[in-house]
Amino acid sequence: MSQAPTLVHLSDYTAPPYLVDEVELEFDLHDDHALVHSRLSVRRGAGVAPEAPLVLDGEELVLEALRLDGAAMPEGRYRLDEAALTIEEVPDRFTLEVITRIRPQDNTRLEGLYRSGGMFCTQCEAEGFRRITYFPDRPDVMARYTVTIAADRDGYPILLSNGNPVASGDAGAGRHWVRWRDPFPKPSYLFALVAGDLHCHEDCHTTPSGRDIRLAIYTEHTNAGRTEHAMRSLKAAMRWDEDTYGLECDLDNYLVVAVDDFNMGAMENKGLNIFNTQYILARPEIATDADYANIEAVIGHEYFHNWTGNRVTLRDWFQLSLKEGLTVFREQQFSADRGSPAVRRIQEVRTLRAAQFPEDASPMAHPVRPQSYAEINNFYTATVYMKGAEVIGMYHTLLGQDGFRRGLDRYFQRHDGQAVTCEDFLAAMADANDVDLGQFARWYHQSGTPVVTVTDEFDPQTGHLTLMLSQHTPPTADQPEKQPLHIPVALGLLDTDGHDLPVRLSGEDERAAGTRVLELREAEQRFVVEGLSQRPVPSLLRGFSAPVRLEYDYSDESLAFLFANDSDDFNRWEAGQRLASRILLRWVDRGPEDAPEYFLEAFRRTLTDPAADPALVAEALTLPAEGYLAEQMEVIDVAGIHHSREHLRAEIGRRLGTELRKAYDDNRVTGTYRPDPVDMGRRRLRNLALDYLFAAGDSDGLERCLTHYREADNMTDTMAALTLLADSPMPEAEAELEAFAERWQADPLVLDKWFRVQALSRREDAFERVRALTDHPAFDAGNPNRVRALIGAFCQGNTYHFHRSDGSGYTFLADWVLALDGINPQIAARLAKTLSRWRRYDEGRGTAMRTALERIDQAPALSKDVREVIARSLEPQGDKQHG
Ligand code: TRP
Ligand code: ZN
Repeated sequence: MSQAPTLVHLSDYTAPPYLVDEVELEFDLHDDHALVHSRLSVRRGAGVAPEAPLVLDGEELVLEALRLDGAAMPEGRYRLDEAALTIEEVPDRFTLEVITRIRPQDNTRLEGLYRSGGMFCTQCEAEGFRRITYFPDRPDVMARYTVTIAADRDGYPILLSNGNPVASGDAGAGRHWVRWRDPFPKPSYLFALVAGDLHCHEDCHTTPSGRDIRLAIYTEHTNAGRTEHAMRSLKAAMRWDEDTYGLECDLDNYLVVAVDDFNMGAMENKGLNIFNTQYILARPEIATDADYANIEAVIGHEYFHNWTGNRVTLRDWFQLSLKEGLTVFREQQFSADRGSPAVRRIQEVRTLRAAQFPEDASPMAHPVRPQSYAEINNFYTATVYMKGAEVIGMYHTLLGQDGFRRGLDRYFQRHDGQAVTCEDFLAAMADANDVDLGQFARWYHQSGTPVVTVTDEFDPQTGHLTLMLSQHTPPTADQPEKQPLHIPVALGLLDTDGHDLPVRLSGEDERAAGTRVLELREAEQRFVVEGLSQRPVPSLLRGFSAPVRLEYDYSDESLAFLFANDSDDFNRWEAGQRLASRILLRWVDRGPEDAPEYFLEAFRRTLTDPAADPALVAEALTLPAEGYLAEQMEVIDVAGIHHSREHLRAEIGRRLGTELRKAYDDNRVTGTYRPDPVDMGRRRLRNLALDYLFAAGDSDGLERCLTHYREADNMTDTMAALTLLADSPMPEAEAELEAFAERWQADPLVLDKWFRVQALSRREDAFERVRALTDHPAFDAGNPNRVRALIGAFCQGNTYHFHRSDGSGYTFLADWVLALDGINPQIAARLAKTLSRWRRYDEGRGTAMRTALERIDQAPALSKDVREVIARSLEPQGDKQHG
């Protein structure tokens, strides 16, 4: 067994002993190296002992020169090791000059300064700045940056950094330089630099206070003309934050650069966002509706960070959710306002359940604010982002939009320009609204998915409905003991006609009909609703008002009733999911049967409801994902789940053929492609109908699919058909797949889609094909998008084939974790997390997964990233262990 990695603990936090006020950086960029000249104005923090050493982080740097107040430092006065430069004795205030040499062209980790295509770019969050120069690389050290970049003029006509360009000139020998000054103090993780030969799409935004901001989106020249949607989204996001939160952009230049090689989605560097091309480039023929929506959301997300993250930043990395949870929440509000709120909510909950719930039930479980980490990159997780956003959403539910706004205003009044903690945010919310959020704070400390169980009793004599709510959070890998949380449970009561009743609690006056929020704080709590003349059907946890599992003993009839009648669109959908899950899980147990009539009837009614919104109909008629069903099983039966779900899918296709064909015909969208909610909803429903008709398995399905594919005039329709063709062993389908690759060979993002549909294929030989595709000339293990499209999609998305009973999927995954770890540890560690859930599977699979983990563990030189994931996965876990 390899050594357990060293942990950093939240409880060990101390303020930085030395602060940096000014940073002057000069970059000399060359094809085979870069020289970084840094000049820091440093001062000792108040109250820090004079003998405190200066420790600067630095990794994989070659130190070329070191001067303190102008004098070269002799060898004995400083110490260098793998991670730091230490100077034992320094004055109270001084200027430190450091020259480092780095090799961006060899940087495959994509952290620090690296090359992507023909350009130089940076990624400094979380701890990448230390790969550029020696520095106190922690978010509570905030400095003003002046950055000068010099490079070959022909190869790199565009030289960018944060803030405003203040000077430029000729550097001789065909080189030029540009100087940038960022007026705002910032932590090093927000530093950015880009150099390249780039196309620029310019626009302008005028703020309510009358300032003109220059907007620019830079891409490689081949992508010119694909940034319209991103620019429109950026302007919409700016307007939205002004209107909703009174927050204006504080910069004269807001720059966005799209790069091909990027570990995550995008990065909010001050005034110079760097994006994965995936979240910038769009044209109807290359991007799907989902791509359009994601671009809008990610553009919004990074823009919103300018206030929630940059103006107010983090004290330390444990506070990551302070900026990410809050910014995801703001992004969600923005997206909801631009589209259909219910559709967005359904999609959010679907991803929360697919990614966060399983994480909470795995050895990687951690609270929204983790207590310890070995490698912070491993904690950019669904818990920090999505559950973190749910926690912010609960403040919003408890305080209302106005109260929430008051709290956010208070947060900025108090903390603008500071590096703060989750407690600071909570205190601002509590103080601005004069409420006690003491118990609410547990959401930050406690991991695990709470289970809320509801029972009820109706007394026809008094007209009282007694609701008993209880909560229980099962122990998690990191935390055996749990305490009761403060949980907002939004509740509606429906009468037999499906109308909302007033939810009036004992002792209250009249109330209008509709949703009300119950605040559950105790392990068990009773609520009595009065004034009812008949037993109502409860609609619980409306809008998914808390990130919990809700248990209530609904009858099939009640679920069908809610599916048809609930005024809360989210809960209508939820009722349908519960109904379908019930049937599917029963089939996993007993084997598939004919689909029950009441279920088909509920589907039929939804499908043919002339008043219904097609987008919501499509959501309602989408079966629960295999991963979600898996979550509901004690021991996951991969094959049983797959076969049951496929059986129901085919049943729907066969039994509702007439209605599906009508929905297919009625929802054809004509005219110019528009990524608006109406057209997107129609395409979604039409493509879902196509999916069911194809699943029915008759020749008509394949014919229809081929026609759909050939007639498609946008990527959404193309991909809907191609996904199905990739499931089919018919030669016509194969031929189309091949032609697709031929046609799009020069478009990396489209080629990613081609890899992904094959990785997710239901074909019996899917795994063999994935293996073969890793040898395809277009497969590139150095490009994270390509790795995610093929290996990530197969191992994380194609559950059935990945979990083959012979364990060969796990061997494949372990081989790739090991190979990728030498290239890009962040990507390798993410992939490795898939194996961490080995205890949830049957004996055979569990043992094979553990064997794969052990093989990785025995590799000679693992990154800290992978080592942490493996160590946690293999840690003994009491009674849950087997194999
Ligand atoms: N802060 C980025 C966001 O908006 C996350 C991010 C981008 C990131 N690139 C990264 C985090 C690289 C770690 C490493 O969510
Ligand atoms: Zn973010």
